[in-house]
Amino acid sequence: MKKYIVADEWNIIEEGFDPHLNKISESIFSLGNGRMGQRANFEENYSGETLQGNYVAGIYYPDKTRVGWWKNGYPEYFAKVLNAANWIGIDIRIGEETLDLYTAEVSNFKRVLNMKEGYLERTFTAKLQSGKMLQVCAKRFCSIVDDEAAAIQYSLKALNFDDVLTIIPYIDGDVQNQDSNYDEKFWDEVYKEVKGADAYLTLRTKKTAFDVCTATRFSVDTDQHYDIEELMKEKHVGARLQINIKAGEEIRIFKYAVNLSSENYPKDQLLQASKDLLNRVSAKGFDTMLQEQASAWAEKWKESDIIIKGDVEAQQGIRFNIFQLNQTYTGEDERLNIGPKGFTGEKYGGSTYWDTEAYCVPFYLATASPDVTRKLLIYRYKHLQKAIENAQKLGFKDGAALYPMVTINGEECHNEWEITFEEIHRNGAIAFAIYNYIRYTGDQEYLSEYGLEVLVGIARFWSQRVNWSEARKQYVMLGVTGPNEYENNVNNNWYTNTMACWCMKYAIEALDYVSGTHSDRYTELTTKMSFDAHKEIQAWKHIIDNMYYPQDEQRGVFLQQDGFLDKELIPVSELDPSDRPLNQKWSWDRILRSVYIKQADVLQGLYLLEDQFDEVTLRRNFDFYEPLTVHESSLSPCVHAILAAKLGDQKRAYEFYLRTSRLDLDDYNNDTEDGLHITSMAGTWMSVVEGFAGMRVRDGQLQFHPFLPEKWQSFSFNIFFRGSVININVDKDGVCLNNRSEKDITILLFGKPVFLAGSSSVNVDNHCAEFQ
Ligand code: BGC
Repeated sequence: MKKYIVADEWNIIEEGFDPHLNKISESIFSLGNGRMGQRANFEENYSGETLQGNYVAGIYYPDKTRVGWWKNGYPEYFAKVLNAANWIGIDIRIGEETLDLYTAEVSNFKRVLNMKEGYLERTFTAKLQSGKMLQVCAKRFCSIVDDEAAAIQYSLKALNFDDVLTIIPYIDGDVQNQDSNYDEKFWDEVYKEVKGADAYLTLRTKKTAFDVCTATRFSVDTDQHYDIEELMKEKHVGARLQINIKAGEEIRIFKYAVNLSSENYPKDQLLQASKDLLNRVSAKGFDTMLQEQASAWAEKWKESDIIIKGDVEAQQGIRFNIFQLNQTYTGEDERLNIGPKGFTGEKYGGSTYWDTEAYCVPFYLATASPDVTRKLLIYRYKHLQKAIENAQKLGFKDGAALYPMVTINGEECHNEWEITFEEIHRNGAIAFAIYNYIRYTGDQEYLSEYGLEVLVGIARFWSQRVNWSEARKQYVMLGVTGPNEYENNVNNNWYTNTMACWCMKYAIEALDYVSGTHSDRYTELTTKMSFDAHKEIQAWKHIIDNMYYPQDEQRGVFLQQDGFLDKELIPVSELDPSDRPLNQKWSWDRILRSVYIKQADVLQGLYLLEDQFDEVTLRRNFDFYEPLTVHESSLSPCVHAILAAKLGDQKRAYEFYLRTSRLDLDDYNNDTEDGLHITSMAGTWMSVVEGFAGMRVRDGQLQFHPFLPEKWQSFSFNIFFRGSVININVDKDGVCLNNRSEKDITILLFGKPVFLAGSSSVNVDNHCAEFQ
């Protein structure tokens, strides 16, 4: 844990420069706009430790798989979103000296991520070895208005010298991924051009042949005449210019950049489209672009902000999470998805995990138009054929679909057998997201349009993955890994068995619905899927009715897997703190044999299917599993926060919330330098909305059961629900519900109906007898 970020409601602030923290800060201060993103690398040369990262959404390279012992069924490659051309580069020289914060004496360093307006600002004073001192202020952003464009304003003031200032703005495409499996470079050069202040570089990915054209234009705010020397070398374009700078004088450099990919333009039009966009954004100018950026962010904040009063750190934490989620995925392009690290690092390759469906969907459902979540679902619909092929590779047949654990284009990329072949519960999350979307939006039509095919493919998979146990006279599921990756190859993981049957039940309901309401479409789809309704539904029902679920009758809890009770049940509290985190301190073998749970597993199931279980069952399982959980996945505390809140344990709900909300800001797990935990940020949001505010949707109705964490004076947020926009404010006096839309709505508050006419609000006092 490192606590160096200054608390502030709207800004993330770092004061003072410590090269040891640089990679962490590069992650924390990352910028993005859904279409591209980057780590907070410096514009000028930096010779200290850094992870350079510029990413263009959807542009990936299939890096040949590297494993010690090949197993049949492993994917050939791991698709990674690539480190793309560095477009921020502006090298600075004073006389013969290069500005480099690693070698200069740095003072007054301050880095600010302005979340309200969506830009990054860095100011510092640098004393070069010669004693010359300069003051710099660099501001930049990735535009959310023109999402292929970005801009930089780099101001530099000579403090105590007159000299020649050399400015070298450049685009560098000779970049690598640090996680490249075979130390390969993934880009080839296609085209380059430098014309005065404009530079163009088109690169093509090896194998996948995506083209990305990066183009920049710079200008320098000075009356002096300067000549531009054009610079070109392999995969590198830039310019060099020199001006005289005098003590006290300030020079401003502007750099506009665009990144266009062949995913969105025909290759032969990419260059022209880049030129057009560059002309358009540079004509607006930096200030106008920044104003537009601030207004667009103001709109986003209106939709998705959570306002917490009385706790600045909590406010900063939740805003940071919401800001980063909105920087990562905007829902404008159904070919894109949400990598666990977004655009903030190489880990997890920018690929899609079950995290999207299990953790991110609730956030986008409530804070954006339903279309955004729909696009996330359609992403999986489009990968259905690949999921069927993936299942076929593993020996399944007849349209059974196994979605990949890790993917960009629908093909599996993960290559650890215990996860690739066994962590199959991911299929459950994908089906559940369809249910969740329809439950929230009421958009049943989604089933006949897209959902049904996915549900049938998934149900078919489960029906083939289970087997009949003669000994038990029940169905069992052998050799799986549940959400708790600290147990592998176990039999009858309760969560997986439960989700499997839930999926089959839901698929049957979906079939009923489509056959009852869209008979032509039903015939079309069942023909397309060669679906034998009688035989297949019969088989699924037989499994549903005869599934085995491990449980301990005596304790009244579900068992994580068959052998769970053979383990030594020693709670985490008795572990020596020096043994934590286990994944860094213990051998893998010791972890696997231990009882310790990486992340919610049985509890994940109870969270998703909460309504099927009574409170006593929820409590017993929570009390049994929580003390054994080490929360070494960032996805764990949020589920615990929500369940603790549901069980009325406000104190513990708040403790779990704290673990998730500032996970990256305080580098809680010592791994922020790899990138931010973007998908768990959605979990933080869930902890407040589903945890503290107790929001649920049941039978098409919005419900709240809020409480106010002791440390807070109040919290409030907006929810978009079926055409209404509801603001809920919870403070020490009670709850205020405000209908900010024209549409009337009835909401259940503490289980009692509250009618809210359009544009009206209702205050419910804590002492109001009706709500006690
Ligand atoms: C978790 C998985 C998760 C992945 C990506 C792992 O550590 O155990 O559940 O999908 O990280 O976030």
